[in-house]
Amino acid sequence: MLPSLAILPAIAGLLPSVSAAALSSNAQKIEDRAITPLACLFFGDIVSPWWLNRCKQHLDMVVIDLRSAEEYAVSHIPGSISAPFEPISAWSQMGPGDLLLELPEYNDLAAFLGSIGVGNSPSTATKIVLVNGVGVPAFPQAAGPRVALTLKFAGLSTGRVAILDGGFPAWTSESLPSTTEVPVPVPKTFISSPDRSFLVDINYVASKINKNRQGIFILDGRDQAVYNGSVLEEWAQRPGHIPSAKNLPTQKVWNPDGSFKSTFELLALLRQQIGYGASRSYGEIIVSCGVGGYASGLYWVLTRMLGFDNVKFFDGSAQQWSNEGYPMEL
Ligand SMILES: *[C@@H]1O[C@H](CO)[C@@H](O)[C@H](O)[C@H]1NC(C)=O
Repeated sequence: MLPSLAILPAIAGLLPSVSAAALSSNAQKIEDRAITPLACLFFGDIVSPWWLNRCKQHLDMVVIDLRSAEEYAVSHIPGSISAPFEPISAWSQMGPGDLLLELPEYNDLAAFLGSIGVGNSPSTATKIVLVNGVGVPAFPQAAGPRVALTLKFAGLSTGRVAILDGGFPAWTSESLPSTTEVPVPVPKTFISSPDRSFLVDINYVASKINKNRQGIFILDGRDQAVYNGSVLEEWAQRPGHIPSAKNLPTQKVWNPDGSFKSTFELLALLRQQIGYGASRSYGEIIVSCGVGGYASGLYWVLTRMLGFDNVKFFDGSAQQWSNEGYPMEL
């Protein structure tokens, strides 16, 4: 077993400078020889800037920057590909009846993923790390989970997609290298099929209202003032929420710096908002919001951070529900 590289500088500090130089050159050799550092084998749901900087060159991995083209042009993570998250983009289209933020056509998405170097064939299984911005309101933070959900729809399983915790600001706050150089992706073959298992439509949601006592919850990720009807967002025709829906404002899942709260805090938040009736093993949670952005944040937290496997996603959200004349509760 090689000594941990992290302790070498500490040892070096205790020795005369000549030895320190020798030690650090040894460390360099060890690093050159290492095929895949052990830490890089642990590809979590959320990765730290340190991990990403250390491991990106050791794995078949595409780092996707979801910020605007302008932000990317100023500075980005070396090797990262720009694919801004916007309502009409590789990640999203306008849906039937002009629904905002609907999933793209599967074939377009698959072709796009192949073109930016995401391989998915018997011999390749590229991992993806998503890099979002951070802002108030938390729309930039929601881009990471929304694109993760879009990649699940593309057929990429859990274990293939991670989010950089704290987004690009966390990278710069650790003074890691950034660049303006734009990499040229090497296209790969992307073969999969769409996964729609977690998507539910408006009729399905209508059949699940008032079932909280059976462990079936509709969870609304909008801010409290929107949920309770005192504020009306532009995309909804009527105020309020889906009857019997509970409220867990998605903005609360992030710390002010855009990193995710701990799983302990997230579970406490969930319990506070919907009590102890929600279970990982029975019943169901259907997530919803205004148009499907914040709901993706809830979907991510519930499925990837808290281990719920009975979560469904209502992409039409309040926009479709209110505009198609379904009852709104205040
Ligand atoms: C709705 O939520 C807002 C924001 O939290 C709050 O100030 C307001 O009192 C609430 N209104 C009702 C009717 O509950």
